[in-house]
Amino acid sequence: MERSYKIAVIPGDGTGPEVVSEGIKVLKAVSGVEGFKVKLIYYDFGGERYLKTGEALPDSAMEELRQLDAIYLGAIGHPGVKPGVLEKGILLRIRFELDLYINLRPVKLYPGVQTPIEGKGPEEIDFVIIRENTEGLYAGAGGFLKRGTPDEVAIQESINTRKGVERCLQYAFEFCRQRARGKKLTLCGKTNVLTYAFDLWERVFQELSREYPDVETDYAHVDAICMWMVKNPEWFDVIVTDNMFGDIITDLGAMIQGGMGIAAGANINPQGTSMFEPIGGSAPKYAGKNVINPLAAICACQMMVDHLGEGGAARRIEEAVIQVLKGHLKGLSAGEMGHSTTEVGDLVAEYASKA
Ligand code: IPM
Ligand code: MN
Repeated sequence: MERSYKIAVIPGDGTGPEVVSEGIKVLKAVSGVEGFKVKLIYYDFGGERYLKTGEALPDSAMEELRQLDAIYLGAIGHPGVKPGVLEKGILLRIRFELDLYINLRPVKLYPGVQTPIEGKGPEEIDFVIIRENTEGLYAGAGGFLKRGTPDEVAIQESINTRKGVERCLQYAFEFCRQRARGKKLTLCGKTNVLTYAFDLWERVFQELSREYPDVETDYAHVDAICMWMVKNPEWFDVIVTDNMFGDIITDLGAMIQGGMGIAAGANINPQGTSMFEPIGGSAPKYAGKNVINPLAAICACQMMVDHLGEGGAARRIEEAVIQVLKGHLKGLSAGEMGHSTTEVGDLVAEYASKA
């Protein structure tokens, strides 16, 4: 049977369109050699459209996205739009409404890539962070009292449901069991202070661990894990945590794997449409200059094809990225690669389509 996938492409703001078009270049190259088809449906959601129409994401689009096989996103964030409007109106809305409850972020240092951590290399830096993606402080619970007065109160609550915590931990145990590396799952929390939320997380973690005797379990407070990720990254195999802590520690993870130029993530609903994105922002100051690093977007594309069941294509892309990092790039930051954005995309596409 013919393998064919319908993919929503949301290039978004700033450098988003440039990096996405390199990802699509690579996608087309591997689909050709691996023998599957892709149908791309482009959406212009982002700051420009919002400024023109006042609409971040039409309701009808949510229904369309639900019907597709995957969503490929560039970046959201526009200097002309108040912070929060596009993030909540597009990115978080898609995460919440499509119930993309897993945010999967690999922290893998490829050979030849510089890490700021002295004495550590690809052997030591190879783990995955699983971030709960629909609850916690991101749920939007809270409000103001007497806003703008001297008696103002601002409340922002962390919502942790039994169902939400359990499905995230379940996914993490299952993922850890299937990963080749250490079969060690670390829960990252703050049980010494957040004694309600992380009491729930810890109880469910312990309950589930009985069903996974082959997975070693560990626990670290979020502040301590920031220390260990830098000092002893080799201790980690899979880390699971809530939405806010996950947001923070994955930026730290991105830095130790070489920076935002290479860091990618997947927003997953195991039963539905999932979304794939480079984890860096829209970098407006580099937009349109053909200098931004497209590898993070290309790695997001690699995660997407893997998720769609195209393991062969995923391996091709990863191998090509490794070759390009090893033999061609001077650095990973914008303007420091020794190549333009489009040249890097060309190189990856070329390696990825070799026999
Ligand atoms: C991320 C980003 C988003 C988040 C922002 C843009 C809303 O930082 O994907 O990590 O906080 O989740
Ligand atoms: Mn973030």
